[in-house]
Amino acid sequence: MIKVKNLSFSYDKEEYIFENFNFSLKNEERIALIGDNGCGKTTFFKLIMGLLKADSGQIEIFDQKREKEEDFIEVRERIGYLFQDSDNQLFLPTVEEDVAFGPINLGKSKAEAKKIVSEKLAMVKMEGFEKKVTYNLSQGQKKIIAFAAVLAMDPDVLLLDEPFASLDKQSIKRMIKILNKIAQPFIIVSHNNLLLDQVTNSSYFLE
Ligand SMILES: Nc1ncnc2c1ncn2[C@@H]1O[C@H](COP(=O)(O)OP(=O)(O)OP(=O)(O)O)[C@@H](O)[C@H]1O
Ligand SMILES: [Mg+2]
Repeated sequence: MIKVKNLSFSYDKEEYIFENFNFSLKNEERIALIGDNGCGKTTFFKLIMGLLKADSGQIEIFDQKREKEEDFIEVRERIGYLFQDSDNQLFLPTVEEDVAFGPINLGKSKAEAKKIVSEKLAMVKMEGFEKKVTYNLSQGQKKIIAFAAVLAMDPDVLLLDEPFASLDKQSIKRMIKILNKIAQPFIIVSHNNLLLDQVTNSSYFLE
C-alpha cells in the first residue's frame, strides 16, 4: 500500500529528520510507529499525505509513484489521516458538517452523507452530537469526532497520530474495539505501548 525508498527530508536543509529512510506498509499490516518526541513521526505522516515534500527518495502509494502535488490528490482521498491535534482537523461549525465533509467531497449526496454521519457517530458512541458546535467540544470529544470523520471517508488505509490522547478508559476501549474490527491496514503513533500491542501486528522504532 505504501512504499518509501531512500527518503530524505529536512525542514531547514541543515538537520535531516529522515536520511535514506525505507519503510513499507503492506495490506493487512497494522504498524505501530514508536519514537521519542520530535523524532519525526508526524513529519512522516505529512510526507505520506503530500503535505510536506521530500528532498529526495521515492514515495509509492497504491502502486503509483507520488511526486507532484496532483499525485497526492488521490492519496488524500484514499488515506484517512487522524491529526495529532484535532483542532487542526475540525474546522466547520458543527459536528455533522465536520463528519460529512469527507463523504460530500468524495461525491456523496447530502442524504447519503447524513446517513454516514449517523452511522459513524453511532459507531463511536457519539449519537446526538450532530448539531453540537465542534469548537466547544472537549479535547477528547474532538479526537473521537475527528476519528468518526476519518472513518466516514471509508479510507483504504489509516494514519492515526496519537488516537488515544485525551481519551478516557471507555473511549480507549471503544477505539481499540473499532480498530480491531475494521479491515483496513493502518499506521498508528502513540506513546502507550500497552495500547499499541492490542491493535498492531508489527512495530517500527524511529530514531
Ligand atoms: N514546520 C516545522 N518547521 C521546522 N521544524 C519543524 C516543523 N515541524 C516539526 N519540526 C521539527 O521536526 C522534528 C520532528 O517533528 P515531529 O512533529 O515530526 O515529531 P514527532 O515524532 O511527531 O513528535 P511528538 O511525539 O512530540 O508528536 C522536531 O524536531 C520538530 O521540532
Ligand atoms: Mg507528532
